[in-house]
Amino acid sequence: MNAFEYAQANRHQFLKELQEFLSIPSISTQDEHKADIQRAASWLRDMLQAAGFSKAEVLSTHGHPVVFAEWLAAGPEAPTVLIYGHYDVQPPDPLEEWKTLPFEPTLVGDDIFARGASDDKGQLFIHVKAAEAFKETGGAPPVNLKCIFEGEEEIGSPNLEPFIRQHAGQLAADVAVISDSHLLSKDQPSIVYALRGLAYVEVEVTGPDHDLHSGVYGGAVHNPINALCSMIAQLQDKDGHITIPGFYDKVLPLSPDERAELAKVPFDRQAWLEEAGVESDWGEPDYSIAERTSARPTLDVNGIWGGYIQPGAKTVLPSKASAKISMRLVPDQTPDEITRLIQEYLTQIAPSTVNVQVHSLHGGEGAIVRRDSPAMQAALRAYAQSFGKEPVFVREGGSIPVVATFQKVLGIETILMGFGLPDDRLHSPNEKFHLPNFYRGIETVLHFLEHLGA
Ligand code: BES
Ligand code: MN
Ligand code: MN
Repeated sequence: MNAFEYAQANRHQFLKELQEFLSIPSISTQDEHKADIQRAASWLRDMLQAAGFSKAEVLSTHGHPVVFAEWLAAGPEAPTVLIYGHYDVQPPDPLEEWKTLPFEPTLVGDDIFARGASDDKGQLFIHVKAAEAFKETGGAPPVNLKCIFEGEEEIGSPNLEPFIRQHAGQLAADVAVISDSHLLSKDQPSIVYALRGLAYVEVEVTGPDHDLHSGVYGGAVHNPINALCSMIAQLQDKDGHITIPGFYDKVLPLSPDERAELAKVPFDRQAWLEEAGVESDWGEPDYSIAERTSARPTLDVNGIWGGYIQPGAKTVLPSKASAKISMRLVPDQTPDEITRLIQEYLTQIAPSTVNVQVHSLHGGEGAIVRRDSPAMQAALRAYAQSFGKEPVFVREGGSIPVVATFQKVLGIETILMGFGLPDDRLHSPNEKFHLPNFYRGIETVLHFLEHLGA
């Protein structure tokens, strides 16, 4: 039996294990799930050990642990692949919107529904099972493997970069691979070559030192919610162009060639509108939807609160208002600089009648990876073999900040071998993973590692 036949024959077992993994509510942002995070980390370590990795350990950080594993069976002449993934998940909220329970993985047709099914437990697990398939058939993978699986991705990886710097020697590799993104569709494979970065801030506007009667004081005391809204309104024009001075200074423009290439990527506008649940698109008129959602920076208010929000009316002039604002960045914008620019601008436009504080929640850099490396050629071939169709190159709007960290700290490029689908509902109720992609993902990784080792 070869590795492909093994993977084929053991689908049922792989699925059972994936269901076990998905049942652990490893929510990184909630303290009450700390023990579950630990449980997910040890579970993963045990699976890596069972899959043949000679070393598999749970390493502590100042936050949630990193699961590290290595299997250097192919020898010093063979290339080394560093596999990254994250075993933490987003909170399942709002719970009432789930059709099945988020931590009781449920099969519906070809899909498995659970929080983390696609982002990123299901995709990460592909690599563990590919390694196992080599172990159980030929003895070892054709290349050296290292794994770094973190438990803080969904909270901005606060401890990952220091960890990578500290363990740079141990993590040394020729190329990194990450499965934490999606394909264009189940019949059209794609490889992501650019990701956006992120700068995330929280703004607090304070007015009077206690809530006031809006009849008694309204008209003579500046309302912090009104002030915050007018400040937010000054961050962007009606077309979505961001008006913070200097915001676009470091944006790498799209070349005519790249635009032409992106324009060839199949895109069904109607299906996109339906999937998003909107009737029309919005944004910078000079750029296509694909460009606006991947190669252009953005600014979005993610939450806004203050005053009275319970049922009914309460006539109050509140003392405080807050908003969370995230900006998706593109190379070469950096989160530090963009955070400083929005801080300065909000401070500058703040009316003198209120106090404004802006603090940074987290950030990460975007990245563009090389497309001409032998590893990328191996990935292209691998997708073509397992999906029966040549993959196309796409840019992605989401963020995986470790890609820039690998470039900067380890000096290596990453191959983004995603196996999710655009309708997987990441971070949303009813997240799912398409099981045929799970199985094809394992085959793709087997082909990829074989090409690299050849
Ligand atoms: N896997 C996603 C990023 C992603 C989404 C890549 C869709 C490709 C397609 C990742 O887990 C994620 O959610 N990242 C966060 C960034 C992080 C700094 C909190 C994001 O993009 O919001
Ligand atoms: Mn992810
Ligand atoms: Mn995510």
